[in-house]
Amino acid sequence: MDTAAGKTAEHVPPERPALPPEIAELTDPGHREDPYPYLDRLRERSPYKPFDGLVVVGRHTQISSLLRDPAMSSARDRATLAPTPRGPRTLNFIHLDPPDHTRYRRLVAGAFARRQVAGLEPRIREITAGLIAAGAESGTFDVVAGLAYPLPLQVICELLGVPFEDRQQLQDWTGVLSEELEPPLGGAPQPPAREATRARAGFVAYFRTLIEARRAHPRDDLISHLLQVEEHGEQLDDAEVLATCVLLLNAGYETTVNLIGNAVLALLRHPDQYARLRADPVRRAPAVVEEVLRYDAPVQMTTRVAREAGSIGAAELRPGDTVLLLLGAANRDPEVYPDPAAFDIDRTPAAPHLTFSAGPHFCLGAGLARLEGAVALELFATHLDAPRLRPGELVYRPNLNLRGPARLPIALDAVRPGRVPGARSAAPAEGRSHDA
Ligand code: HEM
Repeated sequence: MDTAAGKTAEHVPPERPALPPEIAELTDPGHREDPYPYLDRLRERSPYKPFDGLVVVGRHTQISSLLRDPAMSSARDRATLAPTPRGPRTLNFIHLDPPDHTRYRRLVAGAFARRQVAGLEPRIREITAGLIAAGAESGTFDVVAGLAYPLPLQVICELLGVPFEDRQQLQDWTGVLSEELEPPLGGAPQPPAREATRARAGFVAYFRTLIEARRAHPRDDLISHLLQVEEHGEQLDDAEVLATCVLLLNAGYETTVNLIGNAVLALLRHPDQYARLRADPVRRAPAVVEEVLRYDAPVQMTTRVAREAGSIGAAELRPGDTVLLLLGAANRDPEVYPDPAAFDIDRTPAAPHLTFSAGPHFCLGAGLARLEGAVALELFATHLDAPRLRPGELVYRPNLNLRGPARLPIALDAVRPGRVPGARSAAPAEGRSHDA
């Protein structure tokens, strides 16, 4: 396979053999609304090699152990199938393996810990309450535009110390780059090369300026903490701070948008479950978040690259093979979750869902995403009277991996006036803690 061809901005990916029917069905844009029948089939068939260079895995136990397997690398640029990066790249730690990953992540986690997630809760409540009140006043409300998008964007901007007035620009760049997270299957959208290059270069220039400003005048924000953090005499260099800013903005934003969108959709489609949430929103919202993360994962897949020859079940592995891990399919594995297609907020699963990954790359922002999701759902259930889906108005994003609605307009009877909402504890509950 000619990966060198990808060096020009006009690169057209090499021709692949015709996709096997199960994968063609999954990637068919007409199936975004419900990809689960196709994911079920892929899981049952997996592990298998649909074409040279790719192994698909969908079973929970196998994915769970592969995510912890040192023979599986996160250096995606080693993959035979990898598209050559376009434009200026920042090397963030999601693409590194131990021991480089260990040092880099520990330093970022140290800076992250200084802005305690629990300490963000009052502000998250304030932002959420304002969005719900403003958006719902009109009697119709697009949950995505009015709540799911602006909440995580504002939170991540404030956390990093990024001026909120720049949000439209950041949102545009993030949107372009999120399309690049699509799996190497074909069929899913890819941004035009020039657009992706521009978005990447825009991020780099933007954060370079901001980092210089924070170095000169530190504040109590994450960029300043990233510049100052030190452990065992080690620090992050400027390139690492820059790469981390880009990663946090991208990883921490579109994902949480989808969590909130998928959650509201699942609740409104399951009135019995919504009634349970409404009966006790403060206590039940975190359970809803966990069940949505399992039932309709906002991040559907990730990849690893085989370091060496071997096998996964009957599928033979060659060095450089991409291993596509179907997290969303694993979360519906009937060997782990009885009645996996049922949305049940009182479920007590035998094993954690894999939506935040597992092992050394377990999502660094899981606590923040859970908190934002829980506050959004609690206030949604508390303040909106009789929210209802508007038939025919739901539109899905074209992405296969970052899965969620692009538009979710609802009708409602009224917005109930706010009360002073009680604080919830943001400490990760037992069995939901960082899993490294
Ligand atoms: C529902 C929301 C979210 C989901 C579903 C999600 C999912 C994931 C997944 C699957 C990974 C690991 C990928 C892999 O193993 O290859 C990951 C890593 C990561 N996530 Fe999240 N994420 C979410 C929200 C956030 C937020 C809010 C932040 C930060 C503000 C964040 C920051 C990160 C970082 C820094 C990593 C890299 C960890 C590492 O490589 O060690 N994520 N996330």
